[in-house]
Amino acid sequence: MSTRERYAQLCKEINFHFRLYHVEDRTVISDAEYDKLVIELRRIESEHPDWVTPDSPTRRVGAAPSEKFEKVRHPRPILSLANAFGADDARAWFERVRKVDDRVEKAVFVVEPKIDGLSVVLHYRDGIFVQGATRGDGEIGEDITANLRTVKAIPLHIPVSREQRVESSQSAGQPSLFSDPLLPDYLVVRGEAFITTRDFDKLNQKLEEAGEKTYLNPRNTAAGSLRQLDPSITASRPLTLLVYQVVYSEGGDVPASQWELLEWLKALGFPVTDVARRFADLEPALAYTVTWDKRRDELPYEADGMVIKIDDLRLAADLGFVGKDPRGAIAFKFPAREVTTKLLGIDVEVGRTGVLTPRAALEPVEINGVIVKNATLHNFDYIAEKDIRVGDRVLVKRAGEVIPYVIGPVTEVRGGAEQPYQPPSACPACGQPAEHFEGEVAWYCVNAACPAQLVRNMEHFVSKGSMDITGLGIKIVEQLIAEGLVKDVADLYTLTREGLLALEGFADKKADNLLKGISESANQPIQRLVTALGIRGVGEVVAGDLARHFPSLDLLAKASADDLQMIEGIGPNIAEAVVDWFSRERNQAVLAKLKSAGVWPTASPSTVRGPSSGALSGLTFVVTGTLPTFSREGVKEFIEQHGGKVTDSVSKNTSYLVLGEAPGSKYQKAQDLGVKVIGEEELRKMCV
Ligand code: IVH
Repeated sequence: MSTRERYAQLCKEINFHFRLYHVEDRTVISDAEYDKLVIELRRIESEHPDWVTPDSPTRRVGAAPSEKFEKVRHPRPILSLANAFGADDARAWFERVRKVDDRVEKAVFVVEPKIDGLSVVLHYRDGIFVQGATRGDGEIGEDITANLRTVKAIPLHIPVSREQRVESSQSAGQPSLFSDPLLPDYLVVRGEAFITTRDFDKLNQKLEEAGEKTYLNPRNTAAGSLRQLDPSITASRPLTLLVYQVVYSEGGDVPASQWELLEWLKALGFPVTDVARRFADLEPALAYTVTWDKRRDELPYEADGMVIKIDDLRLAADLGFVGKDPRGAIAFKFPAREVTTKLLGIDVEVGRTGVLTPRAALEPVEINGVIVKNATLHNFDYIAEKDIRVGDRVLVKRAGEVIPYVIGPVTEVRGGAEQPYQPPSACPACGQPAEHFEGEVAWYCVNAACPAQLVRNMEHFVSKGSMDITGLGIKIVEQLIAEGLVKDVADLYTLTREGLLALEGFADKKADNLLKGISESANQPIQRLVTALGIRGVGEVVAGDLARHFPSLDLLAKASADDLQMIEGIGPNIAEAVVDWFSRERNQAVLAKLKSAGVWPTASPSTVRGPSSGALSGLTFVVTGTLPTFSREGVKEFIEQHGGKVTDSVSKNTSYLVLGEAPGSKYQKAQDLGVKVIGEEELRKMCV
């Protein structure tokens, strides 16, 4: 074989493996073998630069930066879509187009995801990718060929050779679509370029680790990446694409059905959605569309709706368009999950362990059917990193079961009156100075007498995983504190019937039940009490470890940080927190009161059953809804500390779905797949 022939063969082979990897997510050779082929190709190209073809796999990176983008006139207008908000809107669309042409009556529909990305237009001449453009105003776009070449999902030439196509489709279990396709000499396709949610999160994580500013959302990031003058920057961003339309063709045959077109494009080597379905009527098409509204988190990219298209492309073309919207298709929009609103102020909440958490007070705004007035800002560093200012328009997201959060400010619309935020130097509830611990992001109020902390503290003390006092909810906790009946958790054990009966809403039965619950809690094992104290970093698992080694609180109180660190799993931070907790006078007073009230469980080391560390090993859990006592992170930590795994979505590999209040679509999915559903209590029982 001549070097020239070898060169052509290498191009073909590498492009084939490249496509398999980036479009079909498959490999048939090892990375090392692949690298060897590329090295050989590069060597030949360096010796014969004049041989290098535009579809050489090495052309995907490295073109020189341009000054500006050239304009490209699209061969046909790049149309937009009219929107439908809900099924009735979509039915109304159908009624309208039926009046335009009665053939619509019998129309077949294709439903595809509407990817929230950027329309790009790709030109192929004699099967070679020669130009790529943005949509622009629909008539004229910008030439971003060099950038698009770096997008690995874009085939640089089509089709792959006949043998390769047959091989690839056979191994994918499909028959070859055509034995001798009449490929158009000039083919212009349109697709949506985007960044997957996973890649986006990874990209932001990397930026965060490097201390750089993170991106707001995948769409803007994809748009910004494609409009870089330096293609090597585009190459470094995880862009990908899906193709869904033929804009123009010369010569050859192009299918006249959207459904067949998708298959045809796929066979040519274009990445095509696998979520598309074809329906003989509008109603089942709508039913399918609506299911994806609930399941949108399962899509690997952000979708802002589904597109319902008339399958017959000739009929669709005959229907014409209204403005820039073709009549033959409609965008069925999902309710928005990201909106912008004004940041009115930043409140500071005091947590159980004294953590001070900033919370955004927002101009009320509806997100996906719910009025949102508050959103989390995570921590004070987050506000500084994102440069979030009071008065800013901020982008807020409310998706699935996560608490609404502020993504960041929309800096483009700043008017100048926005105020940079200063974290508080004191606790907003008690006025004591806020403190910061080495190596931690959070700021704390360390005043154990802080009233805000006391409420949270007591809530924690009485909760299921702690002293588990029945009949003592948050409302009563607040009432007891507000009325001055309890000033710390130990005061619960000195409550009297008379004292309770004097409170509003308390009659005999309620008072007796509460007192019974409190007195029964005095018999809880020592590890429960250790958990209940609310020491920073000491959850149920660590409390079990501590109690095993120090079977009474007298002993634990005397332990030094060194003693504590002898225990496996206890590092310097927790050890320090424990010592610090016991050293505080106020806490010592609480302990003395507990002891004299008889709340002083002890145990011989062997009888302390800390949660066994591997009780959940080999099991995979998914959590949905709000759990009675666990926080989102808390339950994850609990499961992981017992050797279990937590994943985000339900599949047939899920062992258990842990169900809380107001569950999301995961519950339905678990039921569909027959996954076992348990509550928090059952989860805890699995670990004792
Ligand atoms: S079809 C005539 N299909 O949504 C063809 N568009 O809001 C009109 N989009 O500008 C477009 N996924 O950028 C079509 N599967 C899909 C799509 C899709 C995303 C975008 C496209 C369009 C916008 C309209």
